[in-house]
Amino acid sequence: MKSSNQPRNALDAESVKEAYRRWAGVYDTVFGGVSAFGRRRAVAAVNSLPGKKVLEVGVGTGLALPLYNRDKQITGIDLSKDMLKKARQRVINAELHNVDDLLEMDAEAISFQNDSFDIAVAMFVASVAPHPKVLLEELKRVVKPGGHILFVNHFLAQGGFRLKIEQLMATASKALGWHPDFALENLLSEQDLQKATIMPVPPAGLFTLVTLPQ
Ligand SMILES: C[S@@+](CC[C@H](N)C(=O)[O-])C[C@H]1O[C@@H](n2cnc3c(N)ncnc32)[C@H](O)[C@@H]1O
Repeated sequence: MKSSNQPRNALDAESVKEAYRRWAGVYDTVFGGVSAFGRRRAVAAVNSLPGKKVLEVGVGTGLALPLYNRDKQITGIDLSKDMLKKARQRVINAELHNVDDLLEMDAEAISFQNDSFDIAVAMFVASVAPHPKVLLEELKRVVKPGGHILFVNHFLAQGGFRLKIEQLMATASKALGWHPDFALENLLSEQDLQKATIMPVPPAGLFTLVTLPQ
């Protein structure tokens, strides 16, 4: 049974793969533009942090990969082999020698050892992943003490017209491949909320950048 603060139509790993098999070919065109500012902000935050080893979870088609400083060593993981195929092509085309690996892997069951990375970043993934709190626990495990975990995501509006629209859109979560009714509390505990830096990101504060020190 779902807990009451979960999004209404939780996706499972198979529906995520199926959704992004369909999205892979058009993802950059349909979603690349509206999400570009949030992605740039998140990577700029990563670039400004100490530490070289970065895990990008839900790397998708690799839109963020060319934005990292070349002294950051990036490992990308994703559930969707179709999205990863695009990311691998991007790495070849742009000669991104600082991308160490792109792996088909579930971010909720990461095969790296504890404390393997300085930074983990998830861009537009938290509202897609089947169990976002499990995802966060895994990121805490693989990021070293003193490191950072970053999320950029759309979170459910607190009220007004946008809340109504998002609740309506949530009935189509499976087809969309993400949860329009995903709230910050679906991801962060009270304790995490106190530690985190939370910043709205354009366009129109639609997205939020969360930085969680470890
Ligand atoms: C909206 S796309 C975002 C892609 C990319 N981060 C970007 O900024 O464009 C969400 C991605 O998260 C991936 N994803 C969702 N749940 C995942 C999980 N548990 N483990 C790994 N990847 C996951 C999906 O396959 C998809 O590629």
